[in-house]
Amino acid sequence: MTAYKPGDPTTINRLYGRAKGKPLRAGQQDLVDNLLPQIAVPADGEITAERLFGYDRPLHFEIGFGGGEHMAGRADMLPDHGFIGAEPFVNGVAQALVHVAGDRHLAKEGGERLPLGNVRIHHGDALEVLRRIPDGALSFAYLLHPDPWPKARHAKRRMMNDGPVDLIAAKLKPGGEFRFGTDHPIYLAHALMVMRRHRHQFEWQAKDAQDFLVRPGGWPETRYEAKARAQGHEVWYFRWRRK
Ligand SMILES: C[S@@+](CC[C@H](N)C(=O)[O-])C[C@H]1O[C@@H](n2cnc3c(N)ncnc32)[C@H](O)[C@@H]1O
Repeated sequence: MTAYKPGDPTTINRLYGRAKGKPLRAGQQDLVDNLLPQIAVPADGEITAERLFGYDRPLHFEIGFGGGEHMAGRADMLPDHGFIGAEPFVNGVAQALVHVAGDRHLAKEGGERLPLGNVRIHHGDALEVLRRIPDGALSFAYLLHPDPWPKARHAKRRMMNDGPVDLIAAKLKPGGEFRFGTDHPIYLAHALMVMRRHRHQFEWQAKDAQDFLVRPGGWPETRYEAKARAQGHEVWYFRWRRK
């Protein structure tokens, strides 16, 4: 692994694990083949709201969106904003595409799942895309239930580390928000240590001592979070404001 040099995002390593799981269902494969190319983040060059969505608008970036529930939920809440999500796991991408495509049949019957026009997806490493977003361009960055890598010798693989956090800090505009959720006590302690090192860049938005125990409004539940709760785990929520 290359050692991380502060200020040099090219020294941040790619961090993800598995890229494939069960074979995709025919409908999902169809979305990967036909919808993904239409809404994929361009393979190179700068990534701006104008380039992706045709005009300037607040930009949100989700790292490792899993099945895309949170990204799609937020995009549905904020139709005038632009959402970029990155996920290397193809089964997750396929599930997210189902949310993005909506369900025209249900929609015709007055159902709620209309297609989302404000989502762009990168099937791959979030950091590769994040590097190509201009500094100060993001209004929100989300890191929800990142892979825990619980063994101490794997701590460098965690997404919450100095390199990625410096990169997120660079890309957020002043006043922009970094949201993080986890149910993993080792990751929680690690994340708080990392964020304490980055207190010159971020300010914790807690309103009271209970703040991190309660899911804030405008924070749709992810699949991983629902599973954690079903297993009786506590889930912790953090919002940091970019100084
Ligand atoms: C435990 S899952 C959580 C998924 C989702 N955020 C949720 O809460 O349901 C962690 C996700 O991070 C993704 N991931 C790992 N490394 C990544 C990277 N470098 N870029 C983007 N996603 C990554 C994994 O593929 C996995 O889907």
